[in-house]
Amino acid sequence: MRRILVTGGAGFVGSGFVHHLVAHTDASVTVLDKLTYAASRDALRALPPSRVQLVVGDVADADVVGPLVAAHDAVVHYAAESHNDNSLDDPAVFVQTNVVGTFTLLEAVRRHGTRLHHVSTDEVYGDLDLEDPQRFTESSAYDPSSPYSATKAGSDLLVRAWVRSFGVRATVSTCSNNYGPWQHVEKFIPRQITNVIDGQPPKVYGAGRNVRDWIHVDDHASAVWTILTRGRIGETYVVGADGERSNLEVARQILEHFGRSPGDLDLVADRAGHDLRYALDSAKLRTELGWAPQHRDFEAGLASTIEWYVAHEDWWRPHKQAVEASYAAKGQ
Ligand code: NAD
Ligand code: TYD
Repeated sequence: MRRILVTGGAGFVGSGFVHHLVAHTDASVTVLDKLTYAASRDALRALPPSRVQLVVGDVADADVVGPLVAAHDAVVHYAAESHNDNSLDDPAVFVQTNVVGTFTLLEAVRRHGTRLHHVSTDEVYGDLDLEDPQRFTESSAYDPSSPYSATKAGSDLLVRAWVRSFGVRATVSTCSNNYGPWQHVEKFIPRQITNVIDGQPPKVYGAGRNVRDWIHVDDHASAVWTILTRGRIGETYVVGADGERSNLEVARQILEHFGRSPGDLDLVADRAGHDLRYALDSAKLRTELGWAPQHRDFEAGLASTIEWYVAHEDWWRPHKQAVEASYAAKGQ
């Protein structure tokens, strides 16, 4: 695979994968990205132009997607609207990008016989009770709760149907919550880090008991590369790093990092339909393909992520005020 097309490669997780490709392979990379509010050219700036090219365009535009797919050996599909809260306010763009965009890509890879990896989320499986001993696996039923997760579930099912009906060579991964550098300040961990930098309390939804299964964005990248190169066509792989933490635990750790009292946080209005807990069992990926996460210490990974945000205030500062104004209008 010498030429790889990465949709959404200017976003948080996609740019992490592009960095992984440049560091660990000799592939040349084309990023197709619409450069929405969530994108960041800065995340790609350190990469050599001889290896990484950016094409600004919409994954739902067949005229843009067709020739790009034809010119590459593989496509890794990250482009999406990705924020649950936004999907509650304005779901239309989620259907357009996540469902119609994936459909557009599938038609192009079908026409050109190109290998596709589709990047999805554990949120397609719905949520678990706090005490449930089960974790999500590849055979968990799809049961999405939000417009975001419903559109991701719909896109996954399109991929499966295109594999079965048309012989498209595709794999799917369902990964848990990522953390690390370059994540937009609208998301939980960057929002709370930057709140504390600004002397504000973390804003935790509801009672803060909701649990997410955190994985470092670099480990997600190595998992996707493993699946792209060694995964079985038509298969789904769950990607997780055994990082379950409640939102309260994460918020308290951020406060303690800055020497603030762990109780100095605000419990704010809950998210509608808020999933209680995600927890993943990634045994299939680990045993079948030999993948393992490198960042096994969440506390250490969070500490270095906090330091990254301290050092990159010029990057996130321009977005902070508008994000907080939008949350404040909803009592969050
Ligand atoms: P993000 O919002 O940070 O980035 C999304 C990128 O897609 C942006 O660069 C944006 O400009 C681009 N994009 C949006 N609409 C587009 C369109 N119509 N055409 C082309 N580009 C478009 O999101 P993220 O957190 O990096 O997530 C990327 C992918 O990974 C998504 O598919 C998401 O479902 C999946 N994922 C994310 C996580 C996570 O924790 N962030 C976990 C599991 C799976
Ligand atoms: P988020 O980063 O939006 O990811 P997701 O919805 O995909 O899990 O939120 C992570 C968790 O943090 C989720 O339980 C919602 C919660 N949350 C807060 O408590 N406060 C916040 O300000 C935000 C943005 C999220």
